[in-house]
Amino acid sequence: MERSLGLMLLLIGTLAIIHIVEAQSPSQQGFISLDCGLPANEPSPYSEATTEIQFSTDATYIKSGKIEGTRNCYNVPVEKGRNHLIRGWFFYGNYDGLDVRPKFDLYLGPNPWATIDLEKRVNGTTKEIFHIPTSNSLQICLVKTGVTTPLISALEIRPLGNNSYITKSGSLSLMFRLYLTQSTRYIRYKNDIYDRQWLAYFQDEWTQVSTTSIVANNNSYDPPKAALATAAIPTNASEPLTLEWSNPEKPDDQYYMYRHFAEIQDLRSTDTREFNMVWNGEVISAEPIIPNKLRVSTSFSVSPRNCPGGECMFQLIRTSRSTLPPLLNAFEIFTVIQFPQSETNETEVAAMRNIESTYGLSRINWQGDPCFPQQLRWDALNCSNTDITTPPRITSLNMSSSGLTGSIAAAIQNLTLLEKLDLSSNNLTGEVPEFLGNMQSLFFINLSGNDLNGTIPQSLQRKGLELL
Ligand SMILES: *[C@@H]1O[C@H](CO)[C@@H](O)[C@H](O)[C@H]1NC(C)=O
Ligand SMILES: *[C@@H]1O[C@H](CO)[C@@H](O)[C@H](O)[C@H]1NC(C)=O
Ligand SMILES: *[C@@H]1O[C@H](CO)[C@@H](O)[C@H](O)[C@H]1NC(C)=O
Ligand SMILES: *[C@@H]1O[C@H](CO)[C@@H](O)[C@H](O)[C@H]1NC(C)=O
Ligand SMILES: *[C@@H]1O[C@H](CO)[C@@H](O)[C@H](O)[C@H]1NC(C)=O
Ligand SMILES: *[C@@H]1O[C@H](CO)[C@@H](O)[C@H](O)[C@H]1NC(C)=O
Ligand SMILES: *[C@@H]1O[C@H](CO)[C@@H](O)[C@H](O)[C@H]1NC(C)=O
Ligand SMILES: *[C@@H]1O[C@H](CO)[C@@H](O)[C@H](O)[C@H]1NC(C)=O
Ligand SMILES: *[C@@H]1O[C@H](CO)[C@@H](O)[C@H](O)[C@H]1NC(C)=O
Ligand SMILES: *[C@@H]1O[C@H](CO)[C@@H](O)[C@H](O)[C@H]1NC(C)=O
Ligand SMILES: *[C@@H]1O[C@H](CO)[C@@H](O)[C@H](O)[C@H]1NC(C)=O
Repeated sequence: MERSLGLMLLLIGTLAIIHIVEAQSPSQQGFISLDCGLPANEPSPYSEATTEIQFSTDATYIKSGKIEGTRNCYNVPVEKGRNHLIRGWFFYGNYDGLDVRPKFDLYLGPNPWATIDLEKRVNGTTKEIFHIPTSNSLQICLVKTGVTTPLISALEIRPLGNNSYITKSGSLSLMFRLYLTQSTRYIRYKNDIYDRQWLAYFQDEWTQVSTTSIVANNNSYDPPKAALATAAIPTNASEPLTLEWSNPEKPDDQYYMYRHFAEIQDLRSTDTREFNMVWNGEVISAEPIIPNKLRVSTSFSVSPRNCPGGECMFQLIRTSRSTLPPLLNAFEIFTVIQFPQSETNETEVAAMRNIESTYGLSRINWQGDPCFPQQLRWDALNCSNTDITTPPRITSLNMSSSGLTGSIAAAIQNLTLLEKLDLSSNNLTGEVPEFLGNMQSLFFINLSGNDLNGTIPQSLQRKGLELL
């Protein structure tokens, strides 16, 4: 399967997209579709010809509108607590004329997501996860890890339905999403309301069955009708339907598999189609599956499953009373991906953004999560580092000699665990604000080398506070 998938991926560019004419296009509400590096003189947004997806330039989502520095992040609005499809496309077109294929890391906020190696993936690659953001903005970062400059071709965010793809813990990283057909067409929006992408897949020992009737697809997964209109059955009706894949580099990965079934053959009254699901030799169906006539049912495991040594085998095996072989219309396989490091406290990130804009700063390094990963922590600050499940807090801020003008930013008071504040050698004016004295953790303040006036507030004359 791995080999076949690779082949299909490289063909995407040339494959026809299934295009069922529907009376009304599903809404693109909440879709974020960025054409990264769209030239400034091209219209934005534009409607992509085959899918009618509205793509826009990425310039407004990335700092300074271009990629420079070590970490470059897209900052996109999302709905906190809702599951989202997040997909990046990476294709190297030798735009720089250097013909050096980049290798770099992809981060989701403070956490590593994937390494993109276009030296290995010469035909480009995509990365897709289902993830529930913990705040209303999502940081997708490209991190330089060597001499080559990271790139991204497109970035797509799609909000998902409420009651689907629920994990025990962690997010889902897409391995395969296939529908079983002998055609080569590939399916995405508008046939898939969530713009999942379904590649065509088939094996030699299978026979295709298909229907021209509409297959009801309205369960909480909403797999596209077009992906359910065909299915595979083993040509030898006594044999199981078998899927095998291997993942030798990550033998400890855990899997979630979603299987979409619908009966699309006309059965005689004497016919029964009934089968069990078997994972690496173990029966995992509580009771046998009997696909519903022209109506989807989606089967999945509540807990993730392992594959010994990274060798996986999934089978559908007919029961003894079944007169027909097993059938499968479409399936998705994900591995569990953990993003364990909490994002920095949202209020404090907002305060830092506020400070940045108050002083008109544009530090190239102030992108992504302020505190993590540690080696990319924003200049000028330090953070608490208690445990990864607690949102980091900012404990020191040193903006000495930073050309700051105007008054001391009120947003500083939202850094409630700040211990050290150095604003020395700037051109700050106005009075020393009262709030500094009320910040309980603060024990060191250097304000020397500014043009501050007025009296020192009473609150600042407390014991243990060093004020310069
Ligand atoms: C890349 O595409 C070319 C041409 O389609 C193909 O021959 C080659 O095997 C592909 N390489 C990889 C690593 O998939
Ligand atoms: C999903 O949940 C959100 C918030 O709980 C709710 O507003 C929305 O209507 C739900 N959507 C559907 C399709 O059930
Ligand atoms: C699916 O749609 C059909 C017809 O539109 C409707 O009768 C049925 O109740 C729906 N099922 C679900 C699970 O929403
Ligand atoms: C079909 O499979 C059964 C069970 O594996 C086997 O005994 C039989 O020879 C196969 N038939 C053909 C025609 O290959
Ligand atoms: C952060 O901590 C490091 C190591 O303790 C120290 O060298 C650096 O000066 C600190 N930075 C700030 C802004 O306090
Ligand atoms: C703040 O940074 C400056 C150098 O930029 C350094 O001289 C100074 O000691 C730092 N302040 C503190 C409190 O660490
Ligand atoms: C501090 O944070 C709160 C909550 O996010 C916000 O409403 C308030 O405006 C912030 N205060 C300042 C001075 O930025
Ligand atoms: C985030 O920081 C704010 C202000 O510093 C604080 O009131 C709030 O409790 C913190 N939230 C979390 C989850 O730590
Ligand atoms: C406070 O800032 C001034 C000006 O930058 C500097 O000369 C002085 O050493 C600082 N004091 C301390 C204790 O860091
Ligand atoms: C800041 O103060 C220094 C010295 O007092 C002065 O030379 C400089 O012009 C001031 N800069 C601004 C932006 O006011
Ligand atoms: C402090 O300076 C501000 C302007 O920078 C001025 O409006 C205010 O009157 C001054 N206050 C005192 C007590 O000198």
